[in-house]
Amino acid sequence: MSARRFLLLLALAALVPFAQASSQLALDKGCYSCHGEPPRRGAPAFAELAERYARYRGQAEAPQRLADQLRAGSLFGHIAAHERVSDEECVALMRWIIDGAR
Ligand code: HEC
Repeated sequence: MSARRFLLLLALAALVPFAQASSQLALDKGCYSCHGEPPRRGAPAFAELAERYARYRGQAEAPQRLADQLRAGSLFGHIAAHERVSDEECVALMRWIIDGAR
């Protein structure tokens, strides 16, 4: 096996548990307390967000941009959970939502 192919396999193997980890991350960060089913406090459910964010699929810079926006907070009403999550975790969560939030 070429070194290149080996690295590719390694990268893929690393991605699989990562994808599964994101819903757990959303759970750990308390995101589901507002974005679960049924959603609370005027938050859109993750399924609805996933539909809205599906158009960002294939845009490499989208998760970072969306994470920055979310963490910066909106002009009206701050959501502590959005601002407390770390940059890396937020990027992973945005990628998870873009990919369908499953
Ligand atoms: C206290 C309730 C609450 C919690 C907890 C919460 N959210 Fe939200 N979230 C909201 C509300 C309300 C909105 C819609 C208003 C807004 O966008 O500010 C929202 C909007 C969003 C949006 C859409 C922003 C946009 O308009 O594009 C995303 C993405 C999001 N939340 C992700 C998360 C993630 C990830 C977590 C966990 C780290 C989380 N939320 C935790 C209440 C919450």
